[in-house]
Amino acid sequence: MDCCFPCLRGAKKKEKQPPEKPQIRPASVVDAEKPKQRPSSSVTKQDSFDFNMESANKGIVLSNGSGHNQIAAQTFSFRDLAAATSNFRADCLLGEGGFGRVYRGYLDSVSQVVAIKQLDRNGLQGNREFLVEVLMLSLLHHPNLVSLIGYCADGDQRLLVYEYMPLGSLEDHLHDPSPDKARLDWNTRMKIAAGAAKGLEYLHDASPPVIYRDLKCSNILLGERYHPKLSDFGLAKLGPIGDKTHVSTRVMGTYGYCAPEYAMTGQLTLKSDIYSFGVVLLEIITGQRAIDNTRAGGEQNLVAWARPLFKDRRKFPLMADPALEGQYPPRGLYQALAVAAMCVQEQPSMRPLIGDVVTALTYLASQTYDPEAHANSHLVAPGTPPRTRTRIRSHGAADQRGSG
Ligand SMILES: Nc1ncnc2c1ncn2[C@@H]1O[C@H](COP(=O)(O)OP(=O)(O)O)[C@@H](O)[C@H]1O
Ligand SMILES: [Mg+2]
Repeated sequence: MDCCFPCLRGAKKKEKQPPEKPQIRPASVVDAEKPKQRPSSSVTKQDSFDFNMESANKGIVLSNGSGHNQIAAQTFSFRDLAAATSNFRADCLLGEGGFGRVYRGYLDSVSQVVAIKQLDRNGLQGNREFLVEVLMLSLLHHPNLVSLIGYCADGDQRLLVYEYMPLGSLEDHLHDPSPDKARLDWNTRMKIAAGAAKGLEYLHDASPPVIYRDLKCSNILLGERYHPKLSDFGLAKLGPIGDKTHVSTRVMGTYGYCAPEYAMTGQLTLKSDIYSFGVVLLEIITGQRAIDNTRAGGEQNLVAWARPLFKDRRKFPLMADPALEGQYPPRGLYQALAVAAMCVQEQPSMRPLIGDVVTALTYLASQTYDPEAHANSHLVAPGTPPRTRTRIRSHGAADQRGSG
């Protein structure tokens, strides 16, 4: 087997799809009509997008490098979006995040239920995130990324219109269970983890690679049959190109998901996303939050709690979400925890590439667990690989982008 996780013997290396790499050429972002005012001061050269709000109001056309396939994000007036949400009525509120509120609405013009995010009017930073999100989502298209239908930049209003994801966020299902939500079973959890990894793989495989920077459970949205999609691209960043190993940025992201080296130095690599992915995977397996202030001191940070347990596989069943009620495949639990442990390693160069994570999780998701067949077998299964420290394929030389 070619995967870097030896505990997943039997997992077949996924057949590589024909390359689907989006080519991102920031310099070729063009105004739909005639350009060419100076870029708005809210978008720095560092963000590399030559863009201004006047062009935003006319409609954006981006080149994805293929010479065709130009994608226009639709523009909506504030009036359209107010009508769609009955004036942003409280009972249309889907959720509230760090950058604004999200409402459910129905847009007559596209005959579609949508989710509308109204960004807080918090000056330059909010404006920058709005622009980055519109541009990224206009270029990036994948079954595991949420689709942007359009946006509104009327006056100082900034709103984003997304496809509506009927099952809400992974966070709601893991951490905010309610009687109307079914408990996530093991198979569904692995399917969500594999799908989220595929979305991240698409970003990392773009040219130049895109570092997502805000991977967390509330940004994994769920469609019909729990099909997962990554959302929230306001913090996304074009990754290093050429010989560079990192990009330097202000530290942004969410406490508990941020890779330690990024939090300390501001040096961002693809491996920062892998760390955040490992935290999400740990949440999926354990049902615990990345940070839980209700727990005892040493246990508040999920990774700090998990690290000593990773060293002793007899402790692995203690890490399974009690809400699973023992209904998980012991070997699958071991393997999923091994993947999570690799992703949250302190040393970024020791973390796997996303392609290997996708291979491992796609395999785990394909191993459908039948609780009936496994009744009373949630102790360590015979044949579970004997070591918790797994061999890591050396990526250093080949991966100029990621180690850092
Ligand atoms: N496209 C969407 N479809 C359905 N619900 C959504 C959508 N986008 C966001 N939400 C809901 O709104 C919540 C707030 O979203 P967001 O502003 O992205 O903040 P955060 O990611 O910090 O929670 C999400 O956690 C989710 O429950
Ligand atoms: Mg979000």
